Amino acid sequence: MRTIAIMNNKGGVGKTVTAINLADILVRDYKKRVVLADCDGQMNLTKFYLPDFDPEINYSMESLLVGDGEPVWCDNLTPLSPGLDLIPGSSGLYSLDVSAVKDGLSFPERLRQFCQAARDDGETDFFIFDCPPGFTVSSTAALMAADEVVIPMLVDGFSVTGMDDMAAQIRSMRQASSRIRIAGVLLTQWRNTDVAREGEALVRSIGVPVFRQVIRRTEKVAESTFARQPLRQYSPGSAAARDYRAWVRELLGEV
Ligand SMILES: Nc1ncnc2c1ncn2[C@@H]1O[C@H](COP(=O)(O)OP(=O)(O)OP(=O)(O)O)[C@@H](O)[C@H]1O
Ligand SMILES: [Mg+2]
Repeated sequence: MRTIAIMNNKGGVGKTVTAINLADILVRDYKKRVVLADCDGQMNLTKFYLPDFDPEINYSMESLLVGDGEPVWCDNLTPLSPGLDLIPGSSGLYSLDVSAVKDGLSFPERLRQFCQAARDDGETDFFIFDCPPGFTVSSTAALMAADEVVIPMLVDGFSVTGMDDMAAQIRSMRQASSRIRIAGVLLTQWRNTDVAREGEALVRSIGVPVFRQVIRRTEKVAESTFARQPLRQYSPGSAAARDYRAWVRELLGEV
């Protein structure tokens, strides 16, 4: 089982869009069994699939972290479609950041044990965590539970200078017994302009792994979030849909 955290401490860089389209391509093109986990109190991932989701009556990332879930790991999942399950987010994840002062150590440990149970069970191929912006309780727990992190990133000066801090934080987690390694930086919302090409060259020179494939910017992505459909369904021929398919091949080591 591969466990992948999609994380950047910056907001609006394409984490959720990447999680949705990675999961969709793995399930439909590769026939993989995937669990998507929404670690974000904004619940963008959850609302994409379940606009009427009620965290009061369903298990969620919050219930897993606080230890209120079902004892058998897969009883905590919300089925979405064949091969795809969700661990929903909830706005209660925000209050965990406050209570972490008291219970900070057990939150990540619970999620780590949850992933281990899924791994031991052998029924799941991929666990994908859609992280919130910032190092919150749930994103830290995801990074502690995951083996790999994918870092979606915009090509701009703020992102390039912020990448050193991001990589340093992840390295410091390795010292805290996490197995996390950086699978790569994924350049998103890419445009074929001089500034984007120069920025890309800069990102590729800073010593952090960067995927060869970039994801181009297209209005089809915003439209797909309104339609609540992954790009493969909404606009399979669009630049971003093609780029995500090519990137998944790279992630799977097929190119
Ligand atoms: N390749 C792309 N082309 C055009 N727009 C994009 C692309 N990828 C993402 N977007 C748009 O950028 C915005 C942010 O995307 P998304 O919500 O996935 O980012 P995020 O990193 O998950 O944000 P947050 O940090 O708030 O969770 C959305 O409006 C989305 O439609
Ligand atoms: Mg998001």
